[in-house]
Amino acid sequence: MSRSPSRSLPGRRAKTAVLAAALLAFTGAGAAVPAAAQTARPATGPGYLDARRPVRDRVEDLLSRMTLDEKIGQMTQAERGSVTPDDVTRHRIGSVLSGGGSTPTPNTAEAWADMYDGFQRAALATPRRIPMIYGVDAVHGHNNLVGATIFPHNIGLGATRDPDLVRDVGRATAEEVAATGVDWTFAPCLCVARDDRWGRTYESFGEVPELPAAMSVIVDGFQGRRLDGPASILATAKHYVGDGGTAGGDDQGDTRISEAELRRIHLPPFRAAVRRGVGSVMISFSSWNGVKLHGHRYLVTDVLKKELGFDGFVVSDWNGIDQIDGQPGFTPQEVATAINAGIDMVMVPQDWRRFIDTLRGEVQAGHVSMARIDDANRRILTKKFELGLFERPFTDRRLLRTVGSDRHRALARRAVAESQVLLKNDGGVLPLARNNNKIFVAGRAADDIGIQSGGWTITWQGSPGNITPGTTILQGIRQTAGPSTTVDYSRDGSGIDGSYRAAVAVVGELPYAEGEGDRPDGMGLDAGDLATIERLRASGVPVIVVLVSGRPLDVAAQLPGWNALVASWLPGTEGRGVADVLFGVTRPTGKLPMTWMRSVDQQPINRGDGKKPLFPYGYGLTYRR
Ligand code: GLC
Repeated sequence: MSRSPSRSLPGRRAKTAVLAAALLAFTGAGAAVPAAAQTARPATGPGYLDARRPVRDRVEDLLSRMTLDEKIGQMTQAERGSVTPDDVTRHRIGSVLSGGGSTPTPNTAEAWADMYDGFQRAALATPRRIPMIYGVDAVHGHNNLVGATIFPHNIGLGATRDPDLVRDVGRATAEEVAATGVDWTFAPCLCVARDDRWGRTYESFGEVPELPAAMSVIVDGFQGRRLDGPASILATAKHYVGDGGTAGGDDQGDTRISEAELRRIHLPPFRAAVRRGVGSVMISFSSWNGVKLHGHRYLVTDVLKKELGFDGFVVSDWNGIDQIDGQPGFTPQEVATAINAGIDMVMVPQDWRRFIDTLRGEVQAGHVSMARIDDANRRILTKKFELGLFERPFTDRRLLRTVGSDRHRALARRAVAESQVLLKNDGGVLPLARNNNKIFVAGRAADDIGIQSGGWTITWQGSPGNITPGTTILQGIRQTAGPSTTVDYSRDGSGIDGSYRAAVAVVGELPYAEGEGDRPDGMGLDAGDLATIERLRASGVPVIVVLVSGRPLDVAAQLPGWNALVASWLPGTEGRGVADVLFGVTRPTGKLPMTWMRSVDQQPINRGDGKKPLFPYGYGLTYRR
């Protein structure tokens, strides 16, 4: 198999690649592209392949040539594990995704790029040669990829109150994602988390609309100044709308509020993202006053598309259309309801064959109009043209060197430091002296990349353990302490004695994602963590608690026994950023993005609701000197 001609050519996606792909299509995969064919100008052929024409014209030209099945294929997104490149060609599938943790083997950037290019070659082998678009959840870095830089989850980025930093995080993430060929991230989540019992609280930048709205700037980082620019990827504002406002924080539950409150609390971040030109919007699994968002024509078409003027495309969530009638699987009625509500592309990971047949049947039965099908295709194809996929469909492997790069890790370390929120510091026990000190570190989260990264890391749910290269918080402490300082560690605190001058307990939550993280039955530290802290306290040494968690926890009862408390959130791979704050290399500047409850009985508790919290939204201490 000859090397793909695009692999060694410069540019985001080599200009001759579309020509090469077309020739590959005609000569069969792998045939070398004759040198004479590798010219910079596109092949003569249908108008939509002429990059000199306006996108609008190219879309209309292409649409006029497409069959119904080709149009339905563009509206179909299948999961990589349930579709082959040959399926993509045969069924004209327009998009492939990786669900959380769905990776090639080996899970390397090169293998991702090979996988992506394989699907892309298959898409270009269709009669219209429409490139496919590949989506992943790069929600805190290219987090499915081992070796990628893992940034703090959104709750930590919200604590930084630093939009410029957040934009840079988006840009760095885009570079690492694009390095693997992938052109679309299902991020940012612009949810406004109102009840911290919700398992996706950490995916929220904050509990009040202005914070997620401000942090929608990450869209600029992902999409760059031009969608066809180097390393630009399509962003997704999700999950539209009200996912963070469900009763009891029940994931995929029911948001029971007035339209005025929905508009006041949950809509502004989407308005901000639309103004930034976000390319796609993902629909929420949740309901509004009992009606599933996946079937909500008023909110999706009338509000999002017409009132807010969203001109990108709307994608469903994972089998989201199945939930419209509350029964497993999807029916023809649900397919028609979802498409007529305004969903343009359906994420149907496994059952995509039946979806294609069902939608065809609904169009032929007159339940879905060709006007709606064409509108969906216009939206999808416009983004594919704007991304430059027709001219540069393959991976630019020059970006591979950005994956897990020192530059990106330094940025992540800075984001970690800026996200730390100092909540208590009795007697100025912090910052720790770097020299001539004796520090005892304990806690199951102290030396564990998996725990400090949280969910959506390498696997969907995340997991404890040495799951990807990085620096644990303990390693960061050891790297920052001077040679005259002793740093000892035991997971449960055993071995500490009164000779130490400070004890650092790094405790909190084990990784989780989505509904697996819902906590309807309490939000306190578990018995193991509490025992570790007590063991340290019994020594008489001042105790500094560092909470690694996806949300505020119910710690008011224990707090009086702690000398200091730092909310570390889910920092990701660059744990040294935590040490930077503990030793005062960086002063703590983080501010709470969520009100911190005095008791779980207060949930939901948010700014301005009249309840008395332990720490209010926006609270955060710093060092006097
Ligand atoms: C999940 C999530 C969504 C994610 C999608 C694809 O269920 O709700 O945030 O983008 O499926 O993994």
